[in-house]
Amino acid sequence: MKILIVGNGGREHALLWKLRRDAPGADLFVTRANGGMGGLATSLDIAPGDIGGLADWAAWNGAGLTVVGPEIPLDEGIVDAFVARGLPIFGPTQAAARIESSKAFSKRLMRDYGIPTAAFRRYSSTDIATFDADEAKLRGMGELRVVKASGLAAGKGVLVCETVDEAIDAAREMLAGDSFGAAGREVVIEEFMHGEELSVFALTDGTNVVPMLPAQDHKRIGEGETGPNTGGMGAYAPVALATPELMRQVTEEILRPTVAALAAEGHPFRGLLYAGLMLTETGPRVVEFNCRFGDPETQVVLPLLASSLLDPLLAIARGESIAGASLEWRSDAAVTTVLASGGYPGDYHSGIPIHVDPAIESMDDVLVFHAGTKTSADGTLVTSGGRVMAVTALAPTVGEAAERSRAAADMVGFDGRYFRRDIAHREVARTEVARA
Ligand code: AMP
Ligand code: GLY
Repeated sequence: MKILIVGNGGREHALLWKLRRDAPGADLFVTRANGGMGGLATSLDIAPGDIGGLADWAAWNGAGLTVVGPEIPLDEGIVDAFVARGLPIFGPTQAAARIESSKAFSKRLMRDYGIPTAAFRRYSSTDIATFDADEAKLRGMGELRVVKASGLAAGKGVLVCETVDEAIDAAREMLAGDSFGAAGREVVIEEFMHGEELSVFALTDGTNVVPMLPAQDHKRIGEGETGPNTGGMGAYAPVALATPELMRQVTEEILRPTVAALAAEGHPFRGLLYAGLMLTETGPRVVEFNCRFGDPETQVVLPLLASSLLDPLLAIARGESIAGASLEWRSDAAVTTVLASGGYPGDYHSGIPIHVDPAIESMDDVLVFHAGTKTSADGTLVTSGGRVMAVTALAPTVGEAAERSRAAADMVGFDGRYFRRDIAHREVARTEVARA
């Protein structure tokens, strides 16, 4: 079977790695392979955003499955285009992908169907008068101090303000200005939620929901959760806070009702629903939904998946049911450390040669997932993005996995290399307390 992966980051490298294990005989293809994917898949010189080109390739080559990594092609209707041509593809339609691509849509859906989330108000740049009229009311609503551009903004459209006054100013600026382009013409201003975050992936055929092992990621650039937000500097799984009881609650109160709500509105969601949760004192509440696998959580979740990923992906892509499907997990912990280019998430240089200690290849349960890397014309591996690689290690405890991931990260060198040495620190502290 021919399998096409759309996207070329660390998440897609992990998907390729897992699908290769699940289907050793399959022919794997990827859009514009990064510097680490070459041994796993054939690189196609088709941009991930070239929907027509990808559908033509899949049709002409008889691809049995296409898996979409990033949100942008989903938001642009890649699934609709494939489905119209009868091509099996894993991911939601454009309408269902709005659960991520429009915060105004997802917040409205959550409110209408009673799915727990932060209180919010939504405003549009075509009606700033309403915003102005609401100002006093907003100030009286409590901790309404998180401002979000409604559209896709590559994780940069969220401002967590210190005060409500600051949030009101930021929202007005977003509505009046053009700093977030089309994404900022609609703005959501919402309640600040206190707690720890949890990333839950769920496979769904539009009706049935199969949650995967929950993970936690580290969004801030600096150790101890300091500095600006990034695409993600590391992740770990499993998370002790996510007890079986909590996961039942998440499934019954959040995942199932959301999938049912999308179906009830005529936009059944088939694919991977990612719930970004806040574990608050009053229970789990939704921070945001994504319509795809998370990066770098995928780099810890998939290595722990002992059963097939291919089977449920194929069933969902073919429009079949996954009722009764269950996943099996290794009992180990996994930690991934992201190596970033110096300067990220601000400006950084690319094209810097990378040295990978060959001994890393022979380390058991250490996986090097490439993201912003490429092979230059002379065959050298060089950096080509802000997040360069994610180095995942598995071990019986999260503390050991974190230590092994750090040690392996130290075996990759390039000028300006930066990584956090404290990935999974909360979990390590918790497990140490539990053992003492
Ligand atoms: P989002 O893109 O919606 O996931 O927001 C990015 C990050 O901002 C989240 O991962 C949280 O760390 C933080 N954040 C977003 N919304 C809230 C909220 N209502 N309360 C507290 N933190 C939030
Ligand atoms: N790890 C956050 C995301 O993929 O959006």
